[in-house]
Amino acid sequence: MALAEFIAELEELAAGAESTFALAADMPALEAARVEFLGAKNGRLKTAQKGLGSVAGADKPVAGKQFNGAKERIEAAFAAAQARLETNPAASGTPFDITLPGKRLRLGHLHPITQTIEELKEIMGRLGFTVTEGPEIEDEWHNFEALNIPLSHPARDPLENFYLATAQKLANDTGAAKTSESAPASASGGGPLLLRSQTSTVQIRVMEQTRPPIRIISLGRVYRPDDADATHYPMFHQIEGLLVDRHVTMADLKSTLRLFASSFFGRDVHIRFRPSFFPFTEPSVEVDMSWGERWIEMGGAGMVDPNVFRAVGYDPDVFSGFAFGLGVERVCARRHNVTDIREFYKNDVRFLHQFG
Ligand code: FA5
Repeated sequence: MALAEFIAELEELAAGAESTFALAADMPALEAARVEFLGAKNGRLKTAQKGLGSVAGADKPVAGKQFNGAKERIEAAFAAAQARLETNPAASGTPFDITLPGKRLRLGHLHPITQTIEELKEIMGRLGFTVTEGPEIEDEWHNFEALNIPLSHPARDPLENFYLATAQKLANDTGAAKTSESAPASASGGGPLLLRSQTSTVQIRVMEQTRPPIRIISLGRVYRPDDADATHYPMFHQIEGLLVDRHVTMADLKSTLRLFASSFFGRDVHIRFRPSFFPFTEPSVEVDMSWGERWIEMGGAGMVDPNVFRAVGYDPDVFSGFAFGLGVERVCARRHNVTDIREFYKNDVRFLHQFG
């Protein structure tokens, strides 16, 4: 083949490829054009390459150069068309149906325990109780001492509590400093710190700062090294209530808790007091609730012990009061027929979704 003829053929091929690639309207059309021009077996470029063999020997270097130039043009035209179609999803070959319904976004919602806390605040608010907060990291004075829980009481066993490894305690443990870890805590604070094991700590904090009459609730997290089971978790929430005034009686306690229970659970709930013992109340009771045969323990309660009043500087001959502390997880579980409180902390959205 004459060189001029070969060059003219290449020019026609490259120009044809450029316009075909430029006109390809979608991916399938581009692929068909690629096979036509660049196909490895029978593509038109491959066929043109065969013509190179029939060009006279002296013309071969020029013909080879021309061939490479044409090949580059065709490949560049293909790459440009591919880039153009990739940035245009409508050209992917699958037409976009604008009438399809959109994807529904799932809205988040409050955790069932938070919802319960909000509702409890609202109910107790209607009974005249205001909300108070206390710290989750406590000293022994507020968690035990002022609540009439002496040093020898089993509730203070380090194995029953989450004590914090404070600098002072670390020093004691390593024998680096001689301090009085076992000395009784005092109102001035100091001493070992722990994650509070009950919200009754807030009773002390409130009474230290205010004079009666007092009518507060406090809701928050408490921590105990309990094994997790269907009714226990190492971190859980309590609602604490405290009412202090003149002439407060057990009857006030019971009617308050009954009103609370029927507002939260409905009229068919029954409530009973079982004699019990708490160092900070006298007399003390366990508060059980039932809807049929089975009674479930919801919390503890009682009349504020005179020793607690003395610890905060109240005269027990003048003031009396009641206090109660209920487990929020148990209250919430009962309300929603959840049989295992561990479900609340698995963070499984399939479980949590039902509370949305
Ligand atoms: C107390 O914590 C007392 N502070 C309650 C109290 C307050 C008594 C004021 C008198 C006056 P108790 O240890 O029984 O009591 O716990 C109260 C409630 O917390 C229990 O009835 C239960 O509902 C809940 N509870 C206790 N331990 C756990 C736990 N590990 N997981 C979930 N809930 C728990």
